[in-house]
Amino acid sequence: MAIKSFNPPVRTLMGPGPSDVHPRVLAAMARPTIGHLDPAFVEMMDEVKTLLQYAFQTRNALTMPVSAPGSAGMETCFVNLVEPGEKVVVCVNGVFGGRMKENVERFSAVPIVVENAWGEPVDPDKLEDTLKLHRDAKIVAFVHAETSTGVRSDAATLVDIAHRHNCLTIVDAVTSLGGIPVKVDEWGIDAIYSGSQKCLSCTPGLSPVSLNERAIEKIRQRKTRVPSWFLDLTLVMGYWGGSSRRTYHHTAPVNALYGLHEALVMLQEEGLENSWARHERNYQALRAGVEALGLEFIVREDSRLPQLSAISIPPNVDEAMVRKLLLSDYNLEIGAGLGALAGRIFRIGLMGHASNMKNVLLFVSALEEVMGRLRLPVVQGTAEAARQA
Ligand SMILES: Cc1ncc(COP(=O)(O)O)c(C=O)c1O
Repeated sequence: MAIKSFNPPVRTLMGPGPSDVHPRVLAAMARPTIGHLDPAFVEMMDEVKTLLQYAFQTRNALTMPVSAPGSAGMETCFVNLVEPGEKVVVCVNGVFGGRMKENVERFSAVPIVVENAWGEPVDPDKLEDTLKLHRDAKIVAFVHAETSTGVRSDAATLVDIAHRHNCLTIVDAVTSLGGIPVKVDEWGIDAIYSGSQKCLSCTPGLSPVSLNERAIEKIRQRKTRVPSWFLDLTLVMGYWGGSSRRTYHHTAPVNALYGLHEALVMLQEEGLENSWARHERNYQALRAGVEALGLEFIVREDSRLPQLSAISIPPNVDEAMVRKLLLSDYNLEIGAGLGALAGRIFRIGLMGHASNMKNVLLFVSALEEVMGRLRLPVVQGTAEAARQA
């Protein structure tokens, strides 16, 4: 049998990512491929850098997209900044903090874990106490928006504590960038990475990173060679460093970068503050609908992420069946729980372009109908509650 072209079903992506890609981004990616050292492409790269500086609210010269997904941005920060034997304080309150710890171990450093309950933000007092005990720690790492639980940690406070104890900071902003404030320079974040596929409304596969002078100086002072050729920033910078002296490092994902450029142009057109406000507004509507359905959020109100809600699943609900019916009957994707929360929560994303009222109403009315069909107790009129909110 001849295999035919792949035509994916048209879905509404309201899980933890990827989120819906804006048609303008898809159109940009379909434009003709040119060489990655073509002067026109190099000019576009400079614009991507400027637009990323805006998204991150930074003047860092070393701001660029790594040619691989968010996990590669994470590895870029750890592999360049961490040296064997160093102590790195890792704040863990979900799956992605756990991955940071694994990075530290794999690069032969010593993770000191600040353990926090899943569903809770990182506790600044616990971080402070840990740093008092480990005065030789060099780096503090934490996840700003923990996608596995829908929790926001107080990045500005955590960075401030780290600096008072002479540590550099590595911050995961994969889910936060574009959805809630991320202020790299104001908060003094030393190294940060994000992902293209969440609140930036782009396709998966690129990881914007930004490092300040202190972080670059630590890389310059390394005693050992960066143990990754592809992610070694001193080499990558030869390509991303400045238009007059770009040299070949790897073949850039040309069309993917057209997409990121368009996504960032759209963010600039909307304005960061407006994007943050839109995410907040649509979360408030979702919340009203979810609460009208009698469901509960697992995160306390002041630490919730507007772009990702973790909702606890009532007893006796076959959560896999609910997700299956939403997908088959409504083309609607939502997320399941990960790790310790598997089977216990739904994760509802309202990220980037997908953070809109139409999606809120689709989700709450579809969930109401599916729960009714499964003979679960529901209150009617959830969509109306969301609309009014
Ligand atoms: C907080 C966080 N960090 C890192 C990652 C890894 O990104 P990617 O899946 O693009 O490699 C994700 C992905 O969901 C994430 O949510």
